[in-house]
Amino acid sequence: MKALVLSGGTGSRLRPITYTSAKQLVPIANKPILFYGLESIAKCGIKDVGVVVGETAKEVMETLEDGSRFGVNISYIRQDRPAGLAHAVFVSREFLGDDDFVMYLGDNFILGGIEEFVEAFRVAQGGVNAQILLAKVEDPHRFGVAVLGEDGSVVRLVEKPEVPPSDLALVGVYIFDKHIHEAVRSIEPSRRGELEITDAIDRLIEDGLSVSSSIVEGYWKDLGEPEALLEGNRLALDLLEGEVCGRVDSSSHIQGRVVIEHGAEVVASVIRGPVVIGAGARIEGSFIGPYTSIGPHCTVRSSEIDYSIVLKDAVVEYVGRLEGSIVGKAAKVTRRESRPSALRLVIGDNSQVELS
Ligand code: G1P
Repeated sequence: MKALVLSGGTGSRLRPITYTSAKQLVPIANKPILFYGLESIAKCGIKDVGVVVGETAKEVMETLEDGSRFGVNISYIRQDRPAGLAHAVFVSREFLGDDDFVMYLGDNFILGGIEEFVEAFRVAQGGVNAQILLAKVEDPHRFGVAVLGEDGSVVRLVEKPEVPPSDLALVGVYIFDKHIHEAVRSIEPSRRGELEITDAIDRLIEDGLSVSSSIVEGYWKDLGEPEALLEGNRLALDLLEGEVCGRVDSSSHIQGRVVIEHGAEVVASVIRGPVVIGAGARIEGSFIGPYTSIGPHCTVRSSEIDYSIVLKDAVVEYVGRLEGSIVGKAAKVTRRESRPSALRLVIGDNSQVELS
């Protein structure tokens, strides 16, 4: 079995963060979202992984390299335009050959991993041509939606329906055998102009092939939006074991599960876990936590930050309290003492600022 990991797309809903970073490489608990997926693919014993890349190819390739840090061999496959998930399968035909494969959308975060899901397909030993993973959601119109028969079989799938026929959304992890290639070649672009994998799976059902489903037990989210990213960060932090490698002075207090990476320094501060403080960061006279990730080489001075993500090299100084915030790489949030006491902002395109 192979794996196909999709890591293209523009990440428009995560702007401005995704102006300078591929959305799959935005970190939660200081680790890129994509790493969680690759780690769970490796745990399934899969060695050959194709990573489909688009506009952000350079950054993705520089970060993942040949895959050896995950114990897999990565081949990169170029998708010249974001023409849909089924199109990604189409351009990967040569890499995939006639093998079974797991397709994994790189911005999906599945807390429990995918081992059980992959095992169920293996146990079926060729009896199943495609396997999908579903989750109950409150806003099914944002996803592919499944209709199940009384016996639990998949009757029909629809991509982003205005009137959803059920509350079962397609999670971004699928397993296919070689029959998917013919289905992918036989479909037309959807209303949004993409070749939808949902339509290709629907074609398999129409052709009488066997499509099975299972419902995701643990937490799943596609981390394409700021709120989802913060929630993903919270859950990823919940998995952490505390470990202090950096320096903490005697007037600071570390409470709960806190990771302080090498070279980080905590001075006269309270850190309430779960929290991760990145390598080389400096926290001074501040309160951090719970559910906060501070990236490498950040500076936080005389401030309070909770339920937030601060990306590498950012500076947060004298700001009072920040909550539910995402601070981009090398961004600076500070206070000015001189008059006039007005707000001064130099913020990127598509940024959001909420004043209390
Ligand atoms: C894609 C799929 C959709 C699925 C979702 C899961 O949507 O088309 O069926 O439910 O991923 O993340 P997109 O991210 O392209 O909007």
